[in-house]
Amino acid sequence: MNFSKKINVIEQNDLLRLRKIAHSAQGTEMVIDHQKIINFCSNDYLSLANHPQIKEALIEGVSRYGVGSGASHLVSGHSDSHHKLEEALAEHTGQQRALLFSSGYSANLGIFSALRDEIDWVLQDKLNHASLIDGNRLIGLPVQRYLHNNLESLEKKLKKQTGSGLIVTDNVFSMDGDRANVDGINTISEKNGALLLQDDAHGFGIFESTIPDHSIYMATLGKAAGVMGAFVAGSSDLIEFLIQKSRPYTYTTATSPSMSVATLKSLELIKKGRQKEALFRNINYFKNCAETLGLHFEPSESAIQPLIIGSSNMALSLSNKLFGAGYFVSAIRPPTVPPNTARLRFTLCANHSFAQIESLLKKVKDVMA
Ligand SMILES: Cc1ncc(COP(=O)(O)O)c(C=O)c1O
Repeated sequence: MNFSKKINVIEQNDLLRLRKIAHSAQGTEMVIDHQKIINFCSNDYLSLANHPQIKEALIEGVSRYGVGSGASHLVSGHSDSHHKLEEALAEHTGQQRALLFSSGYSANLGIFSALRDEIDWVLQDKLNHASLIDGNRLIGLPVQRYLHNNLESLEKKLKKQTGSGLIVTDNVFSMDGDRANVDGINTISEKNGALLLQDDAHGFGIFESTIPDHSIYMATLGKAAGVMGAFVAGSSDLIEFLIQKSRPYTYTTATSPSMSVATLKSLELIKKGRQKEALFRNINYFKNCAETLGLHFEPSESAIQPLIIGSSNMALSLSNKLFGAGYFVSAIRPPTVPPNTARLRFTLCANHSFAQIESLLKKVKDVMA
């Protein structure tokens, strides 16, 4: 296997991924690659990743439980802090039970893995997250996609299916920031006796969740909640079934119990809602400023605001120019997004100031001129 040749091809197509090194805590102001920058590409939408009360809770958790969980949930790794957090998440989402996973990626693989012998087909929104596609591939069913956010296309594809199936959608689309019509999709899935799975990685903590009866809800805890991990919520039977049948749940070490103590504190702050109010003020300000400056972002009411550029080379060059000027905005390129839709993906957080947003957008206008 000639790895070096393969890497050269990736680089020649402007698709080489490079890691920048953060020397400070996650936040709106960071030191990255030894440069002070204002960060507009974090999923820490509620600015909770470095929140003093959550840090304190984590330290308390470490004092009580130590660092590692020591085992998987089904052996000796399921602590009362994990259990309390699951109960709190179930209550918060209005579901009978919730189940923790170590990441959103493993939760999605875990759901598919458990459903392997239960479903005959899967239909996915065209822009669903990679982890949902990988889960689909894991169980050997063809990846069938309906047009993005298009209920007619979903219904058309549904007519061709036989047997039991799963309809899958992101709630907030990770690279576009727009939202799925969960009610509309649910009506269609109920009519056709299909099971609905929604991935609310980018909506949890920010938007009220819409969770239809008998559906599967997955959300992550490493984005707006500022910590790490993920959970699935739903009926008692669903959760019990996942415990029995989900291989990515069974065969992995539980997250640190202290992380659950921290996440419980994060959930408390999410419920109070102050960070969310600040985030929405920033989203509105960003959209108004962009419009005044004549910058054409994609329609999005969420913290994710994409500016489609087209070529990977151009998106990368604009991102580098912004970084040089002290603003970190990531260039998102294929295969993360469809060919020729490379973009700058701006994300807003509760702790951004209006001045930071305004100066960023003026600089964007500058570098694009
Ligand atoms: C829509 C969506 N689902 C799942 C995931 C995976 O979550 P995690 O980062 O917790 O593995 C992500 C994160 O990138 C995501 O954007």
